Amino acid sequence: MIMKKIDISASINGIKLPLCIMNASGVLCSTDQDLSNLLNSSSGGIVTKSCTYKPREGNILPRYFEWNIGSINSMGLPNLGIDFYINFIEKKKINKPIFLSISGLSIEENYSLVQKANQYSKITAIELNLSCPNILEKEKMLGYDFYGISNFIENIFKFNKKPLGIKLPPYFHEAHIKNIALILNQFPIFFVTCINSLPNGLFIDINKESVVIRPKKGFGGIGGSIIKPFALANIHKFYTYLRKDIAIIGCGGISSGKDIFEHILCGASAVQIGTQFMKEGISVFERLKKELIFLLKKKNYSSLNSFKGKLKYLQ
Ligand SMILES: Cc1cc2nc3c(=O)[nH]c(=O)nc-3n(C[C@H](O)[C@H](O)[C@H](O)COP(=O)(O)O)c2cc1C
Repeated sequence: MIMKKIDISASINGIKLPLCIMNASGVLCSTDQDLSNLLNSSSGGIVTKSCTYKPREGNILPRYFEWNIGSINSMGLPNLGIDFYINFIEKKKINKPIFLSISGLSIEENYSLVQKANQYSKITAIELNLSCPNILEKEKMLGYDFYGISNFIENIFKFNKKPLGIKLPPYFHEAHIKNIALILNQFPIFFVTCINSLPNGLFIDINKESVVIRPKKGFGGIGGSIIKPFALANIHKFYTYLRKDIAIIGCGGISSGKDIFEHILCGASAVQIGTQFMKEGISVFERLKKELIFLLKKKNYSSLNSFKGKLKYLQ
């Protein structure tokens, strides 16, 4: 019997990933050790921890908690500063696409960070995080500011020459997704990554009758299986409304090959793993790869393009 070759490589608007699975920003991608582990892993690409100009310690501990179907965090962007991530990329042999995630604390800081990243050719692309829910000193999230975001992106593209994508928060109304898509469609954006953690969640330890993380009186961003329906909905609606050349990187609630299949069926070109990577460690990429190949064989699909975006509706 001739076995059909299953191709699970991906193209994000021309950026080729040998495997469609990578880490989500913020999870085990902050330090030299984390990033070296990712370089040596089978992940198809690497996203760095969202960086600011200067290093940050982030919020007070404990700031991350996980349970069987989800996670809550209020990290507050602990990172080693943009120079560290650029130096890492410059000095290492980079064997796969590497996305520098940027999350300035102000609009001006974001301009400076993007300007700086533009000077380094080894950075494959910028993932601009406009959706961090856990910054104590920041009231507004640009991803939810429909007027601000348009102006901001227009200014970014006055000087940006690098492939650039935007990490979006989850939206809960179709009209919001349509509006954001209409704005994004006006610019030469390479990709969007959706979704970031669901903001403003609360997890309670019933025995202690207490919250489980210290910052913000226990409120934090929610990730893991529990958010998958919202991730899928955002991906599919953006797939409907975005220009076809803007790729979607799906993120949110992936813990199995089946979850990856669902993200791609909704229109994602590649996927990122957050909470499950935190739970399972670096071997998660190999397991998910095997599970996805197994599923595609069973369904008799030979590549992602055979089913990408082809979600069926009931008549
Ligand atoms: C501990 C932790 C830290 C995170 N830090 C960042 C970050 O720095 N930048 C970012 O864009 N997203 C960050 N996120 C959000 C994830 O990238 C991802 O969007 C979210 O967790 C949903 O994916 P998941 O369901 O696979 O966890 C973080 C998530 C976690 C759990």
